[in-house]
Amino acid sequence: MSAGAVVGVDERGRDVQFDHLAALHTVTVGQTRSGKTIFSHMVLLAAARDPRIRVCGVDPSGLLLHPHRRGEDDPLIHLGTDDPERACEVVESLVRIMDRRIKTLLAHGVDAVPREVLRPAFPKYVIVLEEFAGLLTWLDSEDAGRKAGEKYAPRFKSAVGRLAREAAKASLNLYLVLQRGEAAFLPDRAQLARRVAFRQDNAASVSLLMENATPEDVQRIMSLAPGQGVIWEPGEPLRFLRADFLPYADYRSAVLAARAGDGSREVVGDGAA
Ligand SMILES: Nc1ncnc2c1ncn2[C@@H]1O[C@H](COP(=O)(O)OP(=O)(O)OP(=O)(O)O)[C@@H](O)[C@H]1O
Ligand SMILES: [Mg+2]
Repeated sequence: MSAGAVVGVDERGRDVQFDHLAALHTVTVGQTRSGKTIFSHMVLLAAARDPRIRVCGVDPSGLLLHPHRRGEDDPLIHLGTDDPERACEVVESLVRIMDRRIKTLLAHGVDAVPREVLRPAFPKYVIVLEEFAGLLTWLDSEDAGRKAGEKYAPRFKSAVGRLAREAAKASLNLYLVLQRGEAAFLPDRAQLARRVAFRQDNAASVSLLMENATPEDVQRIMSLAPGQGVIWEPGEPLRFLRADFLPYADYRSAVLAARAGDGSREVVGDGAA
């Protein structure tokens, strides 16, 4: 596994690292209380500590992304479930950033943003969609009674679909968290190359994401304790891991401390490399 921040230990006691700068989208699944959010604390604290990374996205829980906000009205972070228009605007803004970057790539004759050019003014975007299935269900419920052209869920899904298919090369990574990797919620799961699973109660949904898991692996994933999981990245074997335990209050203060020097950085996005 490439260099990155330590998020846990594997079965042999070796550090498990998570490299945000790799051009990979990530999906983290697991049933309720299995440890997805606590694991995500470690992942997103690592991101906050790297000035080349901008953490953003939509978070119905309102907690996970709260310490990453740049100002009260951060245009790239939406918290809670009170404003579906803003939730859509966040992912649509990120699509616009992606489109500008892809144009720049074409102009330079390259097919991906080299990691050497990443910097605060031209960051890697880590786009967190916490409780992703719940997020889509919420937008669907907001759409009840709205005219076809004014529905939120199709807008949101279309923007996320474009990010899933096109954004990794432009240095925007999705980080999705949800209970199961079901096809209904993850139509673009083939694009989500880095997969993390905590305890799951359904063998079929384990196999859907952990494609090379043996039947023994599947059984094991179904009986994991909270905070125990498995990570699969392209070209790597499955690695069982124990995630570090970072409670919310500690996560929040560590992210805020890491970001204390952020004031001078750009807020919204970039245009040129
Ligand atoms: N790495 C860990 N080490 C020890 N215990 C853990 C760890 N991660 C989670 N837990 C325990 O499991 C509980 C639930 O964890 P977490 O909130 O991350 O679950 P979740 O998968 O996000 O659940 P939900 O789907 O309900 O949001 C924690 O409050 C803690 O008690
Ligand atoms: Mg959670």
